[in-house]
Amino acid sequence: MSQERWAAVDRYITDLLVQPDPALEAALKDSVKAGLPPINVSPPQGKLLHILAKMQGARRILEVGTLGGYSTIWLASALSRGGKLITLEVDPRHAEIARKNIGRAGLTKAVEVRLGNALDTLPKLVSEGRGPFDLVFIDADKPSNPEYFAWALKLSRKGTLIVVDNVVRDGAVVDAKSRDASVRGVRRLNQVIAAEKRVVATTIQTVSAKGYDGFAVALVVVD
Ligand code: SAH
Ligand code: DHB
Ligand code: MG
Repeated sequence: MSQERWAAVDRYITDLLVQPDPALEAALKDSVKAGLPPINVSPPQGKLLHILAKMQGARRILEVGTLGGYSTIWLASALSRGGKLITLEVDPRHAEIARKNIGRAGLTKAVEVRLGNALDTLPKLVSEGRGPFDLVFIDADKPSNPEYFAWALKLSRKGTLIVVDNVVRDGAVVDAKSRDASVRGVRRLNQVIAAEKRVVATTIQTVSAKGYDGFAVALVVVD
C-alpha cells in the first residue's frame, strides 16, 4: 500500500465525516503561505483529538507544540463553556501565525499561546498552580518527549488523558540502534510509559496523508 492510497483514503474519510470548517481550512492555508512545515495533524486526527476532549468533558487542556494552531483549534473548539487551553510554542513566527488563526476561529479568549521553550514553561505552569489538566497533547520536539511526559503527569489528576503524537516514525521506533534523536526520544518515552504505574497506556500505528506514524494514549489512573 502506498502513500498515495493512504492520502486518498484520508480525503475520503475527511469528505465523509469531517465537516468543512472555514477557520480550520484558513489556518492550514495561512500556515502554508507563511512557510510553516506541514506537520500539523491530519483532519481525521484533529477530529479524534476533538472527540477525546469532548469525552473528557474538558475544561482545561494543555498542548505542547502549537505550530500554526491547527490542532489547537480542534482541541479548543471541544472545550466546555468557560474552558481554557494553554499551548506552548518556542518559535515566535509560529506563535504569531497561530494567534491569528486562533483569533479567526473565535477562540482568542479560550486559548493562551505561551511563547518559550516548553521545558522552561512547563515548570512555570506547575509553580503557578495551573492544572490539573483534563487532556494533554504532546506534539513538539521529539527528543524531549520523556521530559514532556513527566511534566504532563505532574499537571495531571486521576482521569487525565495524555496523548503523544508521532511515536512510530515510519516504523523506525523498533530500531534500538537508531541514531536519530527523534527516534531515540520516542523510544525513551515508550520506556518511561511502560514503567509508569500511574497510567494505562497503548500506542496506535496510523497511516494517513501525513505518512506512517502513530500516537500514544495514556490515561492517568491514580492521583
Ligand atoms: N500540534 C501542531 C503541530 C506541532 S509541530 C498541529 O498538529 O497542528 C511541533 C511544534 O513544536 C513546532 O511549531 C515547533 O516550533 C514546536 N517546538 C519545538 N521545540 C519546542 C520546544 N522546546 N518548546 C516549545 N515548542 C517547541
Ligand atoms: C514531526 C513533528 C510532528 O509534530 C509531526 O506531526 C510530524 C513530524 C517532525 O518533527 O518530524
Ligand atoms: Mg505531530
